[in-house]
Amino acid sequence: MSKGQVAIVGFGYIGSVIGAVLADEGYTVYGIENNERIISAVQNRKSPFREPELEELIEKNVASERLFVSNDSSVVKYCETVIVTVGTPLNEAYNADTSQIEAAIKSIAPYLQEDALVMIKSTVPPNTTKELVAPLLREVKGVKIAFCPERLAEGKAIQEFKTIPIVVGGVDESSTSAAADFWRNSLGIAVMEVTDATTAEMVKLSDNLWIDLNIALAGELAKIADQLQIDVLEIIGAANSLPKGSRGQHVNILTPSVGVGGYCLTKDPWFVQHLGTEYGIELNLPKAGRIVNDSMPHYSAGLIDSHLKSLGEPSNLKIAILGIAFKNNTGDCRFTPTKPVIDELLRYGYNLEICDPWTSEHDEAMVTSLPVSKDIEKTVLGADCVAFLAGHDEFQELPLERIAELANDNALIFDGRRFFTKEEIKILNRLGLSYKGVGR
Ligand SMILES: NC(=O)c1ccc[n+]([C@@H]2O[C@H](COP(=O)([O-])OP(=O)(O)OC[C@H]3O[C@@H](n4cnc5c(N)ncnc54)[C@H](O)[C@@H]3O)[C@@H](O)[C@H]2O)c1
Repeated sequence: MSKGQVAIVGFGYIGSVIGAVLADEGYTVYGIENNERIISAVQNRKSPFREPELEELIEKNVASERLFVSNDSSVVKYCETVIVTVGTPLNEAYNADTSQIEAAIKSIAPYLQEDALVMIKSTVPPNTTKELVAPLLREVKGVKIAFCPERLAEGKAIQEFKTIPIVVGGVDESSTSAAADFWRNSLGIAVMEVTDATTAEMVKLSDNLWIDLNIALAGELAKIADQLQIDVLEIIGAANSLPKGSRGQHVNILTPSVGVGGYCLTKDPWFVQHLGTEYGIELNLPKAGRIVNDSMPHYSAGLIDSHLKSLGEPSNLKIAILGIAFKNNTGDCRFTPTKPVIDELLRYGYNLEICDPWTSEHDEAMVTSLPVSKDIEKTVLGADCVAFLAGHDEFQELPLERIAELANDNALIFDGRRFFTKEEIKILNRLGLSYKGVGR
């Protein structure tokens, strides 16, 4: 028996994860999506995105008729719960473009059940739920409206969605309670009720601002470590042993890399920066973090170039690029930092061969017009540099000895994410390869 009927408006990355998991938990889920590529993938029991476990869940739940996807907004008439997961891209003013939210709410409003619970999970600027969404649903009797930020990370989306505590804030107390009850009953996870939707909206932006700034801190420490010729990961590991704060916390510096990409961290800090402009207060951090993180691909390409100089002219050298997705174990290439690295290496005149086992043609087209192979060994063969730009599991499985056999003598191993251990770096050196990481 179905646990209840849920509509998911916007069956993109986030919507498909939420929809597939809720269907698997026993709900009947109706995805509403206006992208034909996504609708037809799901209807054919395929995942529109490469995400661990997602395809299995979609296949199983479409087959058992618990998961349906179409472009028909009227299906909300069957649903007591509606979750909105449409996109909120950055607009020209570097603020959130909430037009997809507005269109989505207008499209469902005429069909909503009395007393329906509508939850916004798209990331939005504070007051969007109260001032944009609620007025559009004024005519729906008894409607409950809450903001529940989505805080999962791609690559571990299913597991994180099922375990990360959920924050809920409604436009009134009964909306907050209804949203909290839904998540407790559906996933059995910890729920944190906050005072209102505006607080919940600001929670999401605060999380992502913290992450972006923290990675920017790691990036600048890496630049200093490169000058001092010491290992930034050793600094960070030891620095993080310091207890700080009154509730058992520690210093927790994250790790540097070729850069920060993806759909969220590249835009959400700008939403916060924009609040400064809107309210006439001087905010410095959001912009600073963005500038630092955006500098890392250029910095990484420069590291590769300066280490390859001793091997010859760029036009005579081959670089094997391993991984173009914006992070490990996902195929998502939106705003990936690997694109500016690739563009810059091509500008220097290097010959590139690229491999990413996770990306679809749709994703690859966002990054490069060069072919993207799925064959790791063929890509590494005869390379003067093997650049690990995403740390996919498949790359971890390539033994160091095999890299040395395939790559040219004296080849450079560039570590943009794989984070070779000190022991592995020694082995690479013994095998006749040189090593350079970001800050290592
Ligand atoms: N991707 C992440 O890791 C992540 C994590 C947390 C929060 N978020 C937030 O969640 C939201 C969605 O992110 P995403 O990565 O899933 O984006 P996405 O672009 O993959 O998904 C949004 C989907 O909504 C569809 N859509 C837009 N308007 C519609 C409408 N009126 N009716 C039906 N479908 C419509 C689009 O076609 C698209 O497929 C964003 O606000 C994002 O900031 C994303």
